[in-house]
Formats: sequence, C-alpha cells, structure tokens
Amino acid sequence: MINSAYTPPLDLVRRPRRNRQNAAIRALVRETRLHTDDLIQPLFVKDGKGGPESIDSMPGIERLNVKDLIKETVQLARLGIRAVALFPQIDPALKDARGKYAVADKNWFFGAIRQLKKEVPDILVIADVALDPYTTHGHDGVLDPATGQVANDETVHILTHYATRLAAAGADMVAPSDMMDGRIGAIRDELDHEGFTQTSILAYAAKFASAYYGPFRDAVGSATTAGAPTLDKRSYQLDPANLREALLEARLDEDQGADILMVKPAGLYLDVISAVRMATTLPIAAYQVSGEYAQIHAAARAGWLDLEKARHESLLAIKRAGADIILTYFARDMARSLR
Ligand code: PBG
Repeated sequence: MINSAYTPPLDLVRRPRRNRQNAAIRALVRETRLHTDDLIQPLFVKDGKGGPESIDSMPGIERLNVKDLIKETVQLARLGIRAVALFPQIDPALKDARGKYAVADKNWFFGAIRQLKKEVPDILVIADVALDPYTTHGHDGVLDPATGQVANDETVHILTHYATRLAAAGADMVAPSDMMDGRIGAIRDELDHEGFTQTSILAYAAKFASAYYGPFRDAVGSATTAGAPTLDKRSYQLDPANLREALLEARLDEDQGADILMVKPAGLYLDVISAVRMATTLPIAAYQVSGEYAQIHAAARAGWLDLEKARHESLLAIKRAGADIILTYFARDMARSLR
C-alpha cells in the first residue's frame, strides 16, 4: 500500500530554489541587467514636411520628417536614450541602379543629420552605410553587369565616399551594413585622410542573410522598388548556417579598425554573439531587427504573448549572450519601463 500523504524531506545540500524564493533574493543574485545606457533606437527619416507615417509591420514605429526626428530625439534623451541609428527613406524618383543620390551634394539626408546635431548636439548619431535606400533594385551596392551580383570593390569605393560625407554632416559613428569585403579598412583610411579621426566605425561584422529584415525593407522602401517579393542578398550577407565564417568576418573587421563589432539579427544568433564576445576585446553590439520586433508585436496583438514580458526577455537574452549594446526598435518603450 502506498501512503501518499507521507512526504519525507529529501536529503539535499543544494536547493537552488532558495535563491529564487522572493523578489529581494532574486534581485541580489541576478546576473544580467538591462540598462537604458546600452540601448540604441533605430529611426526612419524622410524628406519634406509631411507628418509621421506609420509602418504596418512595425507597430509604434514611424517615418519622421526632420522636425519630428528632432522632437523624437529630444524625448528619447529625456528617457535616457542617448544614441540613435538613422535610416533614410529615399523618394523612388531619386533612386537609380547605381544609387548615385547617396553621394550627391544635395542629398537631403546630410542636411537632416546636420540639423539634428545642431539642435540636439549631445545625441550620438549613427548613420547606416549601404546603398539599399538609394538603389532601384534594393541591393546594398552597385551590380556587376556580367554576373548580376553586387560588385565588391566598386561598391566599397562608393560607400567610402558616402561614409565620409555622413561624417562631414556630423554623424558620430558610421555603420557599414553592406558586408562588402574590405570596406572597414577603406572607410577608416578615407575618414582619417579627410581629418575625421574621431568618427567611429560600428561594423555590421556578422550580418546574416535573414528573412527577418522584411519589415525594415517595407519601412525604407527597399523591398517594393526591387520588384521582387524577397530580396536575395546571399552573395554578400552571411549564411545563417555559419558560425566560423561569422568569426572570420568579425576578425577582419577588427583588424581593419572597427571600433565596435555588431551581430545581426540578435535573438536567433545568440551563439554568434557569445562566440564573438569570446573572440575579441572590442565592445559587441547586437541588432534586434525589424522581424524580431514584428514577431513579438504580432503575437501580442493576437493575445498569444505578453508584450512587456516578451520584450524584456528577448532583450535580456541578447545581453546575457554577451552583447554590450543593443539596437532595438523597443528602445524607447524599454527606457520607459526601466525608469
Ligand atoms: C541595409 C540594412 C538592412 C537592415 C539594416 N540595414 C536590411 C537589409 O540588409 O536588407 C535591417 C534592419 C532591420 O531589419 O531592422 N543595409
């Protein structure tokens, strides 16, 4: 006969649950914390005077004109977010196959950066370096007519000029997201040569060819102009299957002078963040991309996930994996909830 009422204590020396029994103890033993200082808010910028435009797949994120960008940045600073990553949405009429408008003197985006730095000098402005906002095909560089693939060296040449112009406009950091070979060294060289020795390079070192960039491409309009349902960047972005190759990219970017190494996307690549963390002494950034943001929002809208809890856990995991810095569309909301 089994006497189910009799429950003798187990003879355990280790009872890890003691460290979890109340909020005070849990706070004492917590290994990882999110802090507003570590967050960067990506923002989409548009030309003209039109009001904020919402983006269907990214609830709470809008394309802003320069005036609204300045207002938003001031609010972010009040919440403790001191760095923004800017992405321009370029009018389709200004795009061509070579993305020439990127390096045109009259590119309004340079003026936007200049104005933002003038009005909110303390905000750290990070400018993405790639041609996808400017090309009709939506690729990050110019195409080689023979192969149809993005031409590496020619693209590096253009991006180098673009990065220097962004620095001249006042960008504190340039962030090459194009995955061309040799671009970090080329950009560092030209920045130094032009006297921008204090402009930092945040290298998208391990950027994977991910399905999770979809909502971003809606936001900057690089998906629609391509005229294809999905843009195939696998000849330059990393294969999601490859960790060692990610480490090679990280090493090359470090050797060429990157100040910060980034892994992107973040949540699906925690092993990569952790491996890059072990392989370098540089600060590591991770980009929680548009699709990660959209996924959490979509599930929360359906009532299937708790938005705040999922948001917090997703960011905490990225930090725990070894990221010092997180680019996330949740930055503003997170800063509010951390107050
Ligand atoms: C473009 C760029 C992309 C993102 C940042 N810079 C998209 C792409 O490579 O197609 C994605 C960011 C996101 O999804 O939030 N070079």
